[in-house]
Amino acid sequence: ATDIDTDTTHEQVVVRRGARSGLPIVVAVHSTTLGQAIGGCRLAHYPHWRDGLDDALRLSAAMSDKCALAGLPHGGGKTVVALPLGMTLDGASRRAVLHDVGDVIAGLGGTYATGPDVGTGPDDMVTIAERTPYAFCRPVGAGGSGDSSEHTAVGVLAALHALCAERFGSSDLSTRRFAVLGLGRVGGHVLRMLAGARATLVASDVDDSRRTLAGAAGAAWASPQDCLTADVDVLVPAALGGLLTPRTVPKLRCAAIAGPANNQLDTPATADLLHQRGILWAPDIIVSAGGIIHATAVELHHETPTQATVRVRGIADTLTDILRTARATGSTPADAARSHARHRIRSGRH
Ligand code: PHE
Repeated sequence: ATDIDTDTTHEQVVVRRGARSGLPIVVAVHSTTLGQAIGGCRLAHYPHWRDGLDDALRLSAAMSDKCALAGLPHGGGKTVVALPLGMTLDGASRRAVLHDVGDVIAGLGGTYATGPDVGTGPDDMVTIAERTPYAFCRPVGAGGSGDSSEHTAVGVLAALHALCAERFGSSDLSTRRFAVLGLGRVGGHVLRMLAGARATLVASDVDDSRRTLAGAAGAAWASPQDCLTADVDVLVPAALGGLLTPRTVPKLRCAAIAGPANNQLDTPATADLLHQRGILWAPDIIVSAGGIIHATAVELHHETPTQATVRVRGIADTLTDILRTARATGSTPADAARSHARHRIRSGRH
């Protein structure tokens, strides 16, 4: 496997100190080969703004593959606002930085459109949209397609059915044990949906107050470390990326992994370690695509919510295809997914 940063180049990366907020804003446009670049706006803490830049480069490259695998006429991009450690934003400074973000996006003239991501939600998209029209997922009342997190979760459930069918020979979730790591916007929905499917659950979040949410879903509570290494059938990463590393993979006790967190592998080579341990990893670029699939179907193609949901559930077929191709060719699902995405991008070039 080759590293994501060495075999890809970005079309455009803007690094700007926000005129109002003074905060470093990075907008990375990885590719517009298939169409407008899309990818969310991440508002998160980093030790140094350069770490935010690295994150934007990696996340935007993954978005290109995510869009290609989802069959969307879009490329990948990402916005990162790198907050210094310990900084909190009050209402006014949040508006200021979101207007700064809107101005940077406006300057790209439609090459890139943003959406919600870690640290931002539909209301923030309204604020960004005061400066540029290129913001997905404003609330329905404000003319957008609304919160994407539930649709992302629907896609995750579809992926989990497909994964269980491939790994265990049955898509029945009620006989399976899941460890859901991260109970944010998407993880919380995934946990509730798994509870609805009568699965056995353990859950965790760095924020201890989410424990009530776990309790309401009938899930056992564990520390993030214990959740990561829990003795379950499927691990569901739903927090920040980079959790699968040469240090953590040997400790895993799950048989399969599928979740909505972006960039779950620390480096592409970690996919080989999972493969060697017999752990079936569903590529995050397939599993997490429900939000963009739904938002683009409704906002750009004016599909009904039902039509959009059918498309989101199509994630199950995409994943099944990739897992079977990987098995047939003896490659990892990560490699199969990446080469499929690259093929689509090459042949879709115009
Ligand atoms: N956070 C979403 C993702 O990583 C980004 C997004 C969602 C962009 C919805 C546009 C619309 O896929």
